[in-house]
Amino acid sequence: MFSTRVPRDLAANRLTIAVAAQRAAGRPLIDLTESNPTRAGFDYPADLLAPLADARALAYAPSPLGLREAREAVSRDYARQRLDVPADRIALTASTSDAYSVLFKLLCDAGDEVLVPRPSYPLFEPLAALDAVAPRAYDLDIHGGWTIDVSSVERAITPRTRALLVVTPNNPTGSLVSDDELDRLAAICAPRGIAIVADEVFADYELEPGALSRAGRVASRADVLSFSLGGLSKSIGLPQVKLGWIAVAGPEPLARAALERLEHVSDAYLAVSTPVQIAAPALLARGAAIRSQIAERVAANYRMLKAGGDALAPCRVLRSDAGWYAVLHVPSLEPEEDLVLRLLATDEVLVHPGYFFDFPRESFLVVSLLPPTAAFAEAVARVLRHFDCTVRRP
Ligand SMILES: Cc1ncc(COP(=O)(O)O)c(C=O)c1O
Repeated sequence: MFSTRVPRDLAANRLTIAVAAQRAAGRPLIDLTESNPTRAGFDYPADLLAPLADARALAYAPSPLGLREAREAVSRDYARQRLDVPADRIALTASTSDAYSVLFKLLCDAGDEVLVPRPSYPLFEPLAALDAVAPRAYDLDIHGGWTIDVSSVERAITPRTRALLVVTPNNPTGSLVSDDELDRLAAICAPRGIAIVADEVFADYELEPGALSRAGRVASRADVLSFSLGGLSKSIGLPQVKLGWIAVAGPEPLARAALERLEHVSDAYLAVSTPVQIAAPALLARGAAIRSQIAERVAANYRMLKAGGDALAPCRVLRSDAGWYAVLHVPSLEPEEDLVLRLLATDEVLVHPGYFFDFPRESFLVVSLLPPTAAFAEAVARVLRHFDCTVRRP
């Protein structure tokens, strides 16, 4: 009856069941998996969304790639990041997930393949499946920081490869793709007709000072068809407003052909609401205040974690250049899932196990840097104490 794009087994996993039971029993827990900024104690002005009520949105004038003024506002947002992206190279989407779906439709036939980083964003698997596309993993290697194992990219390529996905800053490793890595990836992809899709939704959130200035950005590339993804969800902490975007770069005729086809795909759905498009310039301007609160919080929480340094042994906080997450390397006293369940039951702290993100081995724990600093510090102290790691409070 149902397509194989949708999983056969929709049952909740052990961790989800345990969390629901803990909550149902009224037992407290500090949630270090919280990645919803609207639940992390930031100060959102009550009238922040007033621009959505602009009366001009009473008229419906569909425009598949998005209204001019909204695309210009996104172009200005790239300029804020010192990137020159003309408005006519920008397509609006309802979210980053929507952007992936649009791009899979643009680039892939059913059964074609896209290369995805490992470890990385767990949603790639279901997103690809929903568009009948097959994800194939390439590896990130850790040695101090994370870098792309370029030979694993080459090994993963088949005649059906249509796109290489990079997440920069990556969720959850916090690693950035460097200019040099992008050059090497472009040299592999361009001659084979493989596009690069760069998810840059966390590009505003620097954790290691100076890291962002060393990051490569696809929006400025002329040698390979590339798509840069961004959105309000992370850039101003408004995932519920539902506005994302794709910036197209690459050799001129190819980029133009991609935009024409993107317009065709978007015209079939017209997924982006008129009110959000009209509000986009004002929201992007007003949202700077939310962005700076988030940036300050994640950087402070990361600094607090790193301040433990070698004193945390045998636990280790991995270097994270940017984003909303940090990774703890912890002793493998038991399987990751058992460990996470134990931390939940005995220490009342919820963290993500590394296997969720396809880490190459155990044991890694992923923590969100969004929670208020006092709760974050308390929860991290409990996790580290679990391993008899010494905790130095800020
Ligand atoms: C790497 C990455 N891309 C995209 C998204 C989701 O963005 P959106 O809400 O725009 O779909 C997330 C959300 O956590 C993410 O981690």
